Amino acid sequence: MGIINKCLFPVAGYGTRFLPVTKAIPKEMLPILTKPLIQYGVEEAMNVGIFSMIMVTNKYKKAIENYFKPHTDIEKSIKNTTKEALLDEINYLGEWCNFAYIEQQEMLGLGHAIYIGKPLIGNEAFAVILPDDLCTNDGDTVLLQMTKLYEQNPDCCIVAIEEVMGSEVDKYGVIDGELLKGSSNAYRVHNMVEKPTPAEAPSNLAIIGRYILTHDIFVALERTKPDKNGEIQITDALMTLAKAGRVIAYKFQGIRFDCGSVKGFVEANNVFAKEQL
Ligand code: G1P
Repeated sequence: MGIINKCLFPVAGYGTRFLPVTKAIPKEMLPILTKPLIQYGVEEAMNVGIFSMIMVTNKYKKAIENYFKPHTDIEKSIKNTTKEALLDEINYLGEWCNFAYIEQQEMLGLGHAIYIGKPLIGNEAFAVILPDDLCTNDGDTVLLQMTKLYEQNPDCCIVAIEEVMGSEVDKYGVIDGELLKGSSNAYRVHNMVEKPTPAEAPSNLAIIGRYILTHDIFVALERTKPDKNGEIQITDALMTLAKAGRVIAYKFQGIRFDCGSVKGFVEANNVFAKEQL
């Protein structure tokens, strides 16, 4: 058993920024070169020794489930050809990992999506990856960097942050905090605000889609009131724990592509193409 054994992927959103394609294809299945975004997320989790993947999904997104299952007809048709190796790039995941799917029937926010996964988590800390934030590194993956920090601070939730332009803060959860003693990249969080206006924002340190959450986040989520749009925000639930000094924001090393936007998605494809083609 590793220090974190399960990773939750909130993948129930409709991906409306990518319409019309997302009418039939989940946004997490959009590819960076030939591999869908969801696979990059799963591989990042595997890289820290997580083999239990929990997908909070919905009835329109069966393509994700199908993707992680064997496709025996294709396998037969390419047997003993060079193309077999292409399929190995996905099939090995099925050999190593266990995938569980649970449906989120109403779109009531990220906090709500995470809460839906509760029955599958058990009494332990877990990771959350938002696959549309694609992260690349030369060294440790973002989740591995965060897991190391969690090991030193097992009572704390860890959120990944990066500096964004002041005009962009209204797309993110934004934190305020002070650097941990002796650290240049980990902050004890004092305040966090979901999608503030630039005037309201406590800083330009924005949360990106990587979290390590202690199990009592579920109690915090139960007590979290919906925001003005009727959504339960993970940022608001984390704020309860931050009041007790139990949230650390970590400025990770690496590059993050916002593949939830068309611009970031194209940029990621361009960078990967330059490196790999
Ligand atoms: C969610 C969170 C937000 C976070 C962001 C990271 O927002 O609510 O706090 O900064 O993910 O990608 P969403 O992008 O789902 O609107």
